[in-house]
Amino acid sequence: MSAFAVDPTVPRASATDIAVALQDPGFGRYFVDHMAQATWSAADGWHDKALLATGPLSLHPAVSGLHYGQQIFEGLKAYRHADDSVWMFRPEKNAARFAHSAARMQMPALPTEDFIESVTKVVQLNLDWVPQAEGEQSLYLRPFMFASEIQIGVKASDYYTYICLGMPVMPFYPQPLTLWVSPTYSRSMAGGTGDAKCGGNYGASMIAEAEAHRNGCTQVLWLDSATRSWVEEGGTMNFLVITESGELVTPELNGRILAGITRDSLLTLAESHGLRPVERPLAFAELCEGITSGRITEVLACGTAAVVSPVVGIKSPEIDLTVGDGTPGAKTLELRAHLTGIQFGTEPDIHGWMRRVG
Ligand code: PLP
Ligand code: COI
Repeated sequence: MSAFAVDPTVPRASATDIAVALQDPGFGRYFVDHMAQATWSAADGWHDKALLATGPLSLHPAVSGLHYGQQIFEGLKAYRHADDSVWMFRPEKNAARFAHSAARMQMPALPTEDFIESVTKVVQLNLDWVPQAEGEQSLYLRPFMFASEIQIGVKASDYYTYICLGMPVMPFYPQPLTLWVSPTYSRSMAGGTGDAKCGGNYGASMIAEAEAHRNGCTQVLWLDSATRSWVEEGGTMNFLVITESGELVTPELNGRILAGITRDSLLTLAESHGLRPVERPLAFAELCEGITSGRITEVLACGTAAVVSPVVGIKSPEIDLTVGDGTPGAKTLELRAHLTGIQFGTEPDIHGWMRRVG
């Protein structure tokens, strides 16, 4: 299998440009010099694998991904350690989830080795763009794939384009979260695409996010669409609670929830913080009752972009609940410190999650 070939003519940002970007990178405000790209066709499989200048694509307006939403993506990060080495966090989990999303969307799987090589090379060719560890900045990688056959007929495409972008980022949510439970909108349903990371899931959720913002909330807390009685996940994050009896509870993966890699990592770390990890259905009524009675002591949400974010309030047209005393929970902050410590190399990586890339 051929490797991703590096275009030697890609222009390089100056040290000054990079320094300016890293002063306030936001989330996707600046992009690194190279992006990985590959093409798939029914006739030739994956080919034309290359690292090119990050820049505009030339696309015929009839490519089917622009019309019918055959599109998937991933998100993972590379972290600089104090000794200047650079590491990725569990990239093989993202490769596997990308393949899972592809299967659901009737798209070709990108082989794991191609996924890993592409993300690794985007980092390795752009090491100057990987922020220093202070301030929790990192290099976010955004692999994605879309149907690129020129075709207005509705059918699975015979051509796909894969790209991986790199960008320096801050954590997505700098402040503790208040989540909005929409009375109207749903994210996923049985047999739908809830456990695939496809753009349509996000496009469909923006109206609820706008509703959340109008009501003073940061993001949405989704309930199941059939009964609106079970908690599923947050808009860009999985959802967890800590109970007074020492459980770290999160809704089980029921096919409608994204199998978050941060979620899996927190469940693994729970025991070292005196918490029992529990994956089970979580009723919205139990969540409300638990917050009100104090049986639920902490609420948190997690994801690659969101890291581990304390949830301090839950709102809907009927309720306005404050979690605990309205400040981030102690165990939540401990879990966040532990996870980011592993990622930035200040805590031992006993689970073998980090992959050195630079
Ligand atoms: N759920 C949704 C809907 C997301 O967009 C994300 C972010 O990727 C997550 C959960 C968390 O997944 P991960 O921890 O793998 O980033
Ligand atoms: C991530 O955490 O990687 C996400 O995909 C969330 C969001 C930026 C869409």
